[in-house]
Amino acid sequence: MERLNVLALSGSLRTDSYNRKALQIAKRFASEWGANVTEVDLRELDLPIYDGDIEAKGFPESVLKIKSAVEAVEVLLIASPEYNHSISGALKNAIDWLSRGDNSLNGKIAAVFGASAGGFGTVRAQPHLRQILEALNVLILPQPQLFIKTAHEAFDSDGSLKDKKTEERLKKLVHQTLEIASKLAQK
Ligand SMILES: Cc1cc2nc3c(=O)[nH]c(=O)nc-3n(C[C@H](O)[C@H](O)[C@H](O)COP(=O)(O)O)c2cc1C
Repeated sequence: MERLNVLALSGSLRTDSYNRKALQIAKRFASEWGANVTEVDLRELDLPIYDGDIEAKGFPESVLKIKSAVEAVEVLLIASPEYNHSISGALKNAIDWLSRGDNSLNGKIAAVFGASAGGFGTVRAQPHLRQILEALNVLILPQPQLFIKTAHEAFDSDGSLKDKKTEERLKKLVHQTLEIASKLAQK
């Protein structure tokens, strides 16, 4: 069977983001599993805020770029921060653009997880993300779920997670998502 293609995406733009850190670990687990892994950086991409008038003039280059990056893969790894009990505006904006024209997310399989500074570790944001992605026909496994709480204390200076059980759970989430994707790809 051909190798699975995976695209990693962080909903936080900031350089020292805990979600970016968690995403790097998830990418490593996906590579170790045997997938081709690439990442799209929403800060570098600099998507405009969705505006129907911009769309009416034709998709901007940055939108075409993220749409083709998503269309080229079977699996997405999405690390989402929690902003005011929901996902970040940057992530929602990217998803809104991806849904326009042909829905670039249609039929994708995603692993979603998140890190937050609070004690609940994105437990309120992730159901929102699942709901939005479900609207676009993205398959997300019900379990395992991963909430990295008190994220400012969760990572070692080398970027690894201090709690090895949490790291193991992230590995399980990535590997189980890839197993399902590979089974579906064989049908
Ligand atoms: C606008 C905004 C809203 C936030 N709301 C929440 C929240 O609802 N729950 C929470 O646990 N943390 C909240 N935080 C704190 C974030 O968890 C924290 O900034 C975290 O570091 C963001 O993820 P990042 O490190 O990947 O950028 C908020 C931060 C910002 C900037």
